[in-house]
Amino acid sequence: MSLRQVREVEELEAALSPWWEGGIAFVPTMGNLHAGHLALVARARELAPRVVVSIFVNPLQFGPGEDYQRYPRTLEADRAKLAEAGVDLLFAPPVEVMYPRPLEEISRIHVPRLSEILCGAHRPGHFDGVATVVARLFNLVRPAHAVFGEKDYQQLLIIRRMVADLAIPVTIHGVPTVREADGLAMSSRNQYLDPEERARAPVLYRTLKHTTEALRAGRRDYPELEREATQALLQAGFRAVDYFAILDAEDLTPPRPGRPLAVLAAAHLGKARLIDNLWVAPTQNL
Ligand code: PAF
Repeated sequence: MSLRQVREVEELEAALSPWWEGGIAFVPTMGNLHAGHLALVARARELAPRVVVSIFVNPLQFGPGEDYQRYPRTLEADRAKLAEAGVDLLFAPPVEVMYPRPLEEISRIHVPRLSEILCGAHRPGHFDGVATVVARLFNLVRPAHAVFGEKDYQQLLIIRRMVADLAIPVTIHGVPTVREADGLAMSSRNQYLDPEERARAPVLYRTLKHTTEALRAGRRDYPELEREATQALLQAGFRAVDYFAILDAEDLTPPRPGRPLAVLAAAHLGKARLIDNLWVAPTQNL
């Protein structure tokens, strides 16, 4: 199946304007697509008659010293996957199309508190970059629906909050994390792991699982559970643990009885910074 690809804003508008009335489902990505992204596309296909995917490695969401330059760019392979998955249009703009003015002068969107904790505390400005690019993409694509992975759980909550606060007319959908057979969450950054690190990496998922099981079994000593999990990751060879946190799943505030919990972690293994999270349903948090 052939896939239409555009890179300019004018071409995008011309291609999308006949589709706006019937509705578009949109999947923003940074490319290097894997089964996790294809699950987002599959969900998008259920939501609207037309599916648009963007591929853009967004410089605004990378800090100094992060992996913007070496982030894997695999456009040809991505195109083939999207064509196979039945996507109607790929928007793959160059940086000067997404940001026609110098990056320092681009207006930013800041979602207070949610952007400042967890990954936001360790990657200052990261979520402003994410919110800004996603808002700009929404304004260009004008989708009725947009689909994001639950692996980036904090990002998903920030986008939901931005859409609500700014009354952006799009419905946001989260799709469960797709995992490798050994539990490791799929991520483009997994390719930074050497074979030995790759073999250790599922400890992150196993540690999250162990913590959710302890919560389901009735433990409520959250700081102690967080400490034990951090220790387990360091002992398994993780270089540093940015955070291991048990929080309210709806707004990432401290846990309250009878509400869903999210257990979230970010940890460095070799050259990779891995993130993952799991949920504990409210009925299991009495
Ligand atoms: O999750 C990602 O791949 C990116 O953060 C996103 C949402 C495409 C924005 O650049």
